[in-house]
Amino acid sequence: MAASQPLRGPAPTVSLLRDTAVGTGPAVAAVLVSGVLGVEGLWPALAGLLAGALVAHLIARLWIGQAAALATWIIGLGGGEEGRRPALVLGSALEWVMWPALDLARRARRAERQAALQSRRLKTVLDALSDPVLLVDARGTIVDANKAARRTFGLDRTGVPFARATRDPGVTAALRAALEAGNASTVVFSPVDDRLRRFAARIQPTESPDGSRGAVLALREQSEQLLIERMRSDFVANASHEIKTPLAAIIGIVETLRGPARDDPAAREMFLATLADEANRMRRLVDDLLSLSQIELAAHRPPATRVSLADVLQETLARMRPVADAGKVRLVLDAPPSLPDVVADADQLHQLLGNLIDNAIKYGGPDKDVRIEVRLLDAAPATAGPVAGRPAVEIAVVDQGEGIAPEHLPRLTERFYRVDKGRSRKVGGTGLGLAIVKHIVRRHQGHLAIESELGRGSRFAVFLPLPAEGDHGTVTVRS
Ligand SMILES: Nc1ncnc2c1ncn2[C@@H]1O[C@H](COP(=O)(O)OP(=O)(O)OP(=O)(O)O)[C@@H](O)[C@H]1O
Ligand SMILES: [Mg+2]
Repeated sequence: MAASQPLRGPAPTVSLLRDTAVGTGPAVAAVLVSGVLGVEGLWPALAGLLAGALVAHLIARLWIGQAAALATWIIGLGGGEEGRRPALVLGSALEWVMWPALDLARRARRAERQAALQSRRLKTVLDALSDPVLLVDARGTIVDANKAARRTFGLDRTGVPFARATRDPGVTAALRAALEAGNASTVVFSPVDDRLRRFAARIQPTESPDGSRGAVLALREQSEQLLIERMRSDFVANASHEIKTPLAAIIGIVETLRGPARDDPAAREMFLATLADEANRMRRLVDDLLSLSQIELAAHRPPATRVSLADVLQETLARMRPVADAGKVRLVLDAPPSLPDVVADADQLHQLLGNLIDNAIKYGGPDKDVRIEVRLLDAAPATAGPVAGRPAVEIAVVDQGEGIAPEHLPRLTERFYRVDKGRSRKVGGTGLGLAIVKHIVRRHQGHLAIESELGRGSRFAVFLPLPAEGDHGTVTVRS
């Protein structure tokens, strides 16, 4: 009975006494009337009994009718409808049932509302998680899934077996162990149809509302980590390969020099020249790898020194002029008469410009111009990543070479990526130049934009902020 709800209506004994009084009233009245009128014999008693039975019958009918109405109303309460309360005879003892029933129903409804609110809250929290969370029943069927899980596994409804959503034998076996033996575990798996993604799934047995065992699966996506691991192993494989090629040539030449070319001065000279080329190539590769790792090490320490852009440009051009002359290329500087200082790492700026000019000379072809165009911008274009809309200096290296096909543009700044491997090797490329450029630009919180058209040439533009603020540099490509 509801403790907070005081009992309402008359106490049953009072109501019982009243009904007894009403029921026996006619009999008492008959006896009194016959006494006054002086009627004797069996008739007054019989008449009183009959009248009493009639009144008792009517009272009983009234009670049964009200009890039935009350029962119907209570059933309605159970179904959630309060409806109209039954009209009880004034002071009926049935009120002792009606009010607690009403109180109970209201409490149940409040509890239901609160449970619904809790469940909605829990759903909001789970949907806000970026990691997938799933609930499965004893048969391994998904009975609930948060937004991330639905997105990840393309679930447009529940009721799908978890094994079918992931199709990975390892996680299926771990789920079975959780459901059958109550074992909690963590498994790492990749969905069969998307091996580029990886998840760590924490599987926790739980009890379903029907008392059977179910399980909660909390997944954590590790795809980015997987990508980094792949990139690292690709890098090691590529770097080893790049080192192995000149090394094999050096070993071959040394053997030839020791053997067949031993007593042939002309051949020896030729082989020694190749040996020097290959050794230089290895040194360039090691130098590039070292500078790449140094730039990466300093990636989170933005440069803090003021550097004269005019000086950097002049020095780089002076350094690159002999290379341009050797490649029969004319270097043309197109810059405003006075240039501001930039907050930069001077060595890295030299390296950045040197790499871009070197590429333009190498891939621009002989008897062509390579233009270095410098522009001061009040607001960099919207495509300039983190520099967009801010005061910036744009340094573009423009060549008139063969250009680059659009499909290669997004990959140019990957380590060891070369459009034409053989050609790049022949001109002494290691495939690390643009990767170095990208990392330097990023460290300077700038932006690298590459535009190229086959048959017309390429334009590599670097935007550096003036003054340096903002976040990381990015690369956009356009053809
Ligand atoms: N100006 C350009 N014109 C045409 N292709 C280019 C140009 N710059 C770069 N590339 C292409 O992009 C590839 C990657 O350039 P990157 O500078 O990273 O390497 P590389 O020049 O081959 O070697 P490295 O610069 O390490 O000596 C080059 O191999 C070349 O195919
Ligand atoms: Mg290069």
